[in-house]
Amino acid sequence: MKICCIGAGYVGGPTMAVIALKCPSVEVAVVDISVKRIAAWNSNRLPIYEPGLYDIVAQCRGRNLSFSTDVEKHVSEADIVFISVNTPTKTFGLGAGKAADLTYWESAARTIADVSTSDKIVVEKSTVPVRTGESLKKILTHNSKGINYQILSNPEFLAEGTAVQDLLRPDRVLIGGLETPEGKKAAQVLKDVYAHWVPEDRIITINLWSAELSKLVANAYLAQRISSINSISALCEATGADVSEVARAVGKDSRVGPMYLNASFGFGGSAFIKDILSLVYICKCNGLTDVAEYWKQVLKINDFQKSRFVKRVISSMFNTVVGKKIAVLGFAFKKDTGDTRDTPVIDVCKGLLDDKATLSIYDPQVSEEQLIYDLTMQKLDWDRSSSNQLLILSPTEMKQVHTARNAYEAAEGAHGVCILNDWDEFRELDYRKIYEAMCKPAFIFDGRNVVDPEKLRAIGFIVYSIGKPLDAWVKSIAVAV
Ligand code: UDX
Ligand code: UDX
Ligand code: ADP
Repeated sequence: MKICCIGAGYVGGPTMAVIALKCPSVEVAVVDISVKRIAAWNSNRLPIYEPGLYDIVAQCRGRNLSFSTDVEKHVSEADIVFISVNTPTKTFGLGAGKAADLTYWESAARTIADVSTSDKIVVEKSTVPVRTGESLKKILTHNSKGINYQILSNPEFLAEGTAVQDLLRPDRVLIGGLETPEGKKAAQVLKDVYAHWVPEDRIITINLWSAELSKLVANAYLAQRISSINSISALCEATGADVSEVARAVGKDSRVGPMYLNASFGFGGSAFIKDILSLVYICKCNGLTDVAEYWKQVLKINDFQKSRFVKRVISSMFNTVVGKKIAVLGFAFKKDTGDTRDTPVIDVCKGLLDDKATLSIYDPQVSEEQLIYDLTMQKLDWDRSSSNQLLILSPTEMKQVHTARNAYEAAEGAHGVCILNDWDEFRELDYRKIYEAMCKPAFIFDGRNVVDPEKLRAIGFIVYSIGKPLDAWVKSIAVAV
C-alpha cells in the first residue's frame, strides 16, 4: 500500500513518521510545495522541534518514509492521500478574520483531481469547516475522469510538544465516512492502518460531518476550559482565593476532570483561536447568532486575560515602564515547541511596547529571525468591527526589542521579568542570581504559574502570579484588572 500526505507541516510530518514507523509494509511519502521545508525534513535538522521525532524520522527515512516536492508523482501513485495543508483564518475579503482560508486546501484537492489516474481514498487531515467533504467531492470529480474517490475525515488531535506521544498513544482515532457500502469499506482500509498500533476500541468510526465538526468542537471545548479557569483567576485575585487550589478542587470531580485547568495569561497556538473563529463563523452562517456569541466569549476572555496581564505589569511598576528593561522569558505559545503561530506573547510584547518598555526576549527554540518576523508581521485583530484592521509594530518600537541568548542575559539589569511560557528550564533557574543582577525593586510576573511565588518573595522579589493571592504592593495599586 502507498500513502501520500500533502503538507509536511506540524501535523503531516509527525503523523506520517509514526504511520511509517508502525506500518513497515506501507510506503509513506510526504510531499510539500516548499522546497526549504522538504530539504529540512531530509536533513539532520528537522523543520519543527518536536521531542522524540528525529529518532523516528531517522529510523524510517529511506526505508518506507520519504519527503519530496514531487507532489504529482506521489499523489498519482498513492492508494490513500492525506490532505494536511494549513487552513489559517482568512485575512482579507469575505469572512476575513473569521472564516477558514481554504486556498491551500483547494489547491491540494485540485492537484489530486488533476494528476490521479486510479481510484483513491482521500483523507481530510487538516481541520476544516463542517461539510468541507462535500466541496472536496465536487472538486475531485469536476473533471469527470471516472475515477472513484472515497472521502474520509480523520482529524488529528496531537498537541505540539507532545506530538510523538500523542500519536503513539492516542486517546482516540476518529474516522468519519459516508454511510454507503463504499464509504464503510474505505473507512475500514484506514482503520486497518491505525490498527497496526492503536487498540480497536480507540478507533471510532462515525459519519463524515460528525468527524469534521468534532475536531472544531474538541478544540473549542479545551479552549473554553482555559477561558473558564482564566476568568476565575481574576476573581481569585480580587478575593484572596488561589486559582490553583480552586482548579484542583473542581478538577477532582470526575464529571469535570483535571486537565486544561491551568490558569495562564492566555492561550495561543495555531489551533484554538482559528478553530473557534471558524466555529463562530459556521454558527453565524447557519443563523445561530446566540450560539456564535457564546463561543466568541471564549476568545473575549482570552483577550481580557492578556490585557489584564499587561495592566498588572505596568501598574505594578509604578504605572510607567518607559525605558525600563523587561525580560520576556518564553516566546513560543507553549513549552517544547518553537512554534510561534498565534502566540499570546506577541500581544503582551505589543502592550508593553505601547507603554515604551524595552524588551529583552529569550526562548530556547525561537530564533531571533523568527521573533523579529513575528513582531513586525501584520496581525489580524479578530474583534474589531473593521475586520481588516491590523496590528503592527512601528520601526521605533522594534528598536526597543532585543533578543537574549539565555534567561540570565535577558534579566541582566532588568526592572521586571515576565515568564510567558512554561519551559522546564524556567522552573529551574537560579532566581537568586537573577535577583542580584536586576534593578530594585525587582519584579516577577509569572503568566503561567511556573514558579513558586513564596520562594521568590523570600529572595526579595515582588511577585505577581496569575490567580494567586497578591503581594501587598500589587494589591494596593488601584486598577480594575
Ligand atoms: C448538582 C451537582 O451535580 C451537585 O454536585 C451539586 O451538589 C448540586 O447541583 P443536581 O442539581 O442534583 O446536582 O443534579 P445534576 O445531576 O448535576 O443535574 C442538574 C441538571 O442538569 C438536571 O436538570 C440534569 O438533567 C441536567 N443535565 C445534567 C443535563 O442536561 N445534561 C448533562 O449531561 C447532565
Ligand atoms: C491543541 C489541542 O490540544 C490538540 O488536540 C489539537 O490537535 C491542536 O490544538 P496545541 O495547540 O498544540 O494543541 O497545544 P495545547 O497543549 O492544547 O495548548 C494550547 C494553548 O493553551 C497553549 O498556549 C497553552 O499554554 C494553553 N493552555 C493549555 C493553558 O493556558 N492552560 C492549560 O491548562 C492548557
Ligand atoms: P499544520 O500545523 O496544519 O501542519 P503547517 O503550516 O505546519 O500546518 O503545514 C502545512 C504545510 O502544507 C506547509 O508546509 C505548506 O507548504 C504545505 N502546503 C500548503 N499548500 C500546499 C499544496 N497545495 N501542496 C503541497 N503542500 C502544500
